[in-house]
Amino acid sequence: MRLILLGPPGAGKGTQAAFITEKFGIPQISTGDMLRAAVKAQTPLGLEAKKIMDTGGLVSDDIIIGLVRDRLQQPDCKDGYLFDGFPRTIPQADALKNARVALDYVVEIVVAEENIIERMSGRRVHPASGRSYHTKFNPPKTPDIDDITGDPLVQRDDDLEETVRHRLSVYREQTRPLVDYYSSWAQSGDADAPAYRQLSGLGTVEEIRERVLQALKP
Ligand code: AP5
Ligand code: ZN
Repeated sequence: MRLILLGPPGAGKGTQAAFITEKFGIPQISTGDMLRAAVKAQTPLGLEAKKIMDTGGLVSDDIIIGLVRDRLQQPDCKDGYLFDGFPRTIPQADALKNARVALDYVVEIVVAEENIIERMSGRRVHPASGRSYHTKFNPPKTPDIDDITGDPLVQRDDDLEETVRHRLSVYREQTRPLVDYYSSWAQSGDADAPAYRQLSGLGTVEEIRERVLQALKP
């Protein structure tokens, strides 16, 4: 299984990715998680990326494309992968296409902007794994503690309301064009084109998981 999860910040990409990667035994390639790991390790890339991420802007295409290229060389990507938060611009999608990285599906999770702010303000994450929870909609068994490791959960630095609003406008301008990009490719008759699936991200986490699993059937 080789797929892209597409959707605005807070659509639930990371939440659903956890189920899909477990079900299909494939790695999750989340450029956001990779960048946050670099920030935590204080690498030169991390120090540079932090400034951009804290404003809600995008890290440069060259850096992201390089990161993903290296990640795809790892042996665990041999039998499939799930991209979460990548590609996010037309040049990133073109880089994937030009490198002939195989894709079966592009799944778009649709959530309106007014629902997103509420989701972000209650989000709590487990930094080491990228697992995310919501204080109200998807609470951990013990408040502020990761279910699996028992580690403390934290709030993401870019989940401030003002930053979320900026991330949404960046999504509208730079990432949303990928909806057209992939849906028209799917209709072009090109045998290499991934199938395009669109589903509503409104409902419970379980309801959306069902929709995603349905979408991944031939
Ligand atoms: P990234 O980490 O990719 O953030 P994002 O795309 O903005 O998406 P989020 O992680 O905020 O949302 P999500 O869809 O994963 O939602 P989640 O499942 O957590 O990127 C961060 C930054 O890194 C970017 O701003 C940029 O600077 C940089 N970056 C990353 N990739 C890049 C790239 N390719 N190019 C350039 N720059 C890049 O859910 C959100 C909340 O909602 C959680 O609290 C969750 O519990 C809750 N929730 C989930 N499902 C439901 C539901 N059904 N009902 C109610 N609540 C729900
Ligand atoms: Zn995410």
